[in-house]
Amino acid sequence: MTSIYAQRRAALAALMSEKGAGGVAIIPTAPERARNRDSDFPYRHDSYFYYLTGFTEPNAWLVIAANGHSTLFCQPKDVEREIWDGIRLGPEAAPAALGVNTSWSVAELHKELPKLLENQTNVWFPFATHEGLTAQVDAWLTQVRARVRMGVSCPSSQQDLCTLLDEMRLVKDAHEQDTMRRAARISAHAHVRAMQTSARMLRAGQDVREYHLEAELLHEFRQHGSQFPAYTSIVAAGANACVLHYRADTAPIKDGELVLIDAGCELDGYASDITRTFPANGVFSGPQKDLYQVVLAAQYASVAATKAGARFNDPHEAALRVLSQGLLDLGLLTQAKHGSLDDVLEKKAYAPFYMHRTSHWLGMDVHDCGSYVEPGEANTAPAKADPLTGVMVQARPSRVLHPGMVLTLEPGLYVRPSGDVPEAFWHIGIRIEDDAIVTATGCELISRDVPVEVAEIEALMRA
Ligand code: GLY
Ligand code: MN
Ligand code: MN
Repeated sequence: MTSIYAQRRAALAALMSEKGAGGVAIIPTAPERARNRDSDFPYRHDSYFYYLTGFTEPNAWLVIAANGHSTLFCQPKDVEREIWDGIRLGPEAAPAALGVNTSWSVAELHKELPKLLENQTNVWFPFATHEGLTAQVDAWLTQVRARVRMGVSCPSSQQDLCTLLDEMRLVKDAHEQDTMRRAARISAHAHVRAMQTSARMLRAGQDVREYHLEAELLHEFRQHGSQFPAYTSIVAAGANACVLHYRADTAPIKDGELVLIDAGCELDGYASDITRTFPANGVFSGPQKDLYQVVLAAQYASVAATKAGARFNDPHEAALRVLSQGLLDLGLLTQAKHGSLDDVLEKKAYAPFYMHRTSHWLGMDVHDCGSYVEPGEANTAPAKADPLTGVMVQARPSRVLHPGMVLTLEPGLYVRPSGDVPEAFWHIGIRIEDDAIVTATGCELISRDVPVEVAEIEALMRA
């Protein structure tokens, strides 16, 4: 049986031949990183490397030739090191385990890699991704060039492997979609757990802190086999929700406030990314509910705009219309000052309350790779002055969505105190974020095991 990883290596080799006249591709995994003194950060493999190997050990390199031949360099078996750090696959077992054609100890890297570059047209590697890699490739090319007098030819061009791999990774295959569904389900249950804990602790008169809810998230992630959070969890009580990159800290979670949690686990290399905003005590107040319903309606509009054939920007534009209308309806913007809905959109008058975009690609990386501009359409549209800054901006036709692309849908509203804004809304920050797989006719929301409706959130927090 050919593994998905072998299929991806073959597909990459075919693209190297088709789009770039062949050559050889070099893909290192991520380095181990020191945290402090002799403690390392938890090890996380490189996403490109994992996509092509399924291999999670550090100190490994993959080399793929355009004819499909693959070579893996990995840590050698070493009884002493394995006693301390754990079992290594080793180069002897790698071909059978990973389906690569050849494998070497990583100790042979500098001796063997220049040989793999001999008589190749191009050398491919991920540009601007691994510190020092360009210099390393140059050093290997120098070794190849030293043998030119013996009749060897040296690659004459370097090409960015990301251009091929990013396009491959943008459309998730069945295995990836399945893993992402499982990751999203675990994260959704973690959100439910945090909501219920908040209400239960407050009902019991306990001192609830943001870190208590983060602990519930981490417990649920790990309990279901997730290796790590996909990014640093945001647990923001009350006004902290208006700080977009806030992280769970020590702030008390108070009766009557909203809590915004943006947290998702990574499972088997794939991220999930969910945000829910809920009343700490389980019951929305009037102004909280009013603003929440606007964000929720905006999210529904973005969901409806997500389907194959639509553009990446369509969910954002759909959300902006609903958010802007809601800001006018609730008096955070006024017709007298800001004009009609179209004026609000044209002048970006919503920007003080909604300053981020509605979507990003999601995959192995939480902000996954893949161009947001439709290939071939860059620089085809005229430049326009940005209404907020006056800077001329080139309109970039956004990506056409295809089945299997995965993106987040995450509208929000963040209200800072201001004389222009009814005081009842001050310090409220709301975001609702789900993960969507694009299908032929719409999208599949894979993170809805945690509800978004007011009544459903209130019901589960009573439970
Ligand atoms: N959690 C990061 C984001 O929502 O983009
Ligand atoms: Mn997100
Ligand atoms: Mn998020």
